[in-house]
Amino acid sequence: MPFEQKSRIDSSKLPVHIAIIMDGNGRWANERGLKRIEGHRKGGEVVDDIATYAREIGIRYLTLYAFSTENWQRDPEEVSFLMNLLADFLRDKREKILKNNIRLNVIGNTGDLPDFVRERLFSLMEESKDNSRMMLTLALSYGSRSEIINAVKSAIRDSLSGALDPEGLTEERFSGYLYTRQMPDPDILLRTGGEKRVSNFLLYQISYAELIFVEKKWPDFTPKDLEEAIIEFQNRQRRFGKAKSLV
Ligand code: FPP
Repeated sequence: MPFEQKSRIDSSKLPVHIAIIMDGNGRWANERGLKRIEGHRKGGEVVDDIATYAREIGIRYLTLYAFSTENWQRDPEEVSFLMNLLADFLRDKREKILKNNIRLNVIGNTGDLPDFVRERLFSLMEESKDNSRMMLTLALSYGSRSEIINAVKSAIRDSLSGALDPEGLTEERFSGYLYTRQMPDPDILLRTGGEKRVSNFLLYQISYAELIFVEKKWPDFTPKDLEEAIIEFQNRQRRFGKAKSLV
């Protein structure tokens, strides 16, 4: 029986947007006496499993933190492995992404990426731009503070040119300057690997997200674990800062 048929998820209260910090690949590998890159390799397979499951149950936006601005400081061999893994992922999953009506998107300083990754990324984004079942966003060379500073710079440029009245800069208009302008704010921010930190990911956008921290390391994370997280989300009361109704 397909996994989704046994689901305890309330499909009338599905989160629209799930954002995930995929942490713990290196530790997963170390625990097994493997090289860190083996953790990333397994992590790449989990990306496919989780994206497939999210799409099946009707999640509209899935955003994955695949490479932070800080990750450039890792051992060059690990950085190079991750860039190759991404390029392979974009080549190997191309058909599946297109067939499954998934739109690929990216957030981050894409100018930092090597040409061979950027080219595959942009060509698959272009090919999948009319797909509507789920938007799969990869955060690559992404850092939230840098995103916010770039947004502020653009807003300042627009007000200097007269395109923006500074007094008219609302929260909603400001969101339009962020990389995430095409998507609603996340309902869930999930982090695997046991750390309870947000680590420069979507700081502006997660104001009202439910934060869910999972002990399991990313390579061990399964669709069943995502189902548990969604059930946890559905059980929490979401009041957007408003008082609890007494009736
Ligand atoms: C964090 O684990 C993970 C990363 C820095 C990279 C995430 C990449 C993947 C899951 C695979 C590739 C992605 C795609 C989209 C194909 P860590 O290395 O920081 O783990 P540690 O905290 O145990 O050292």
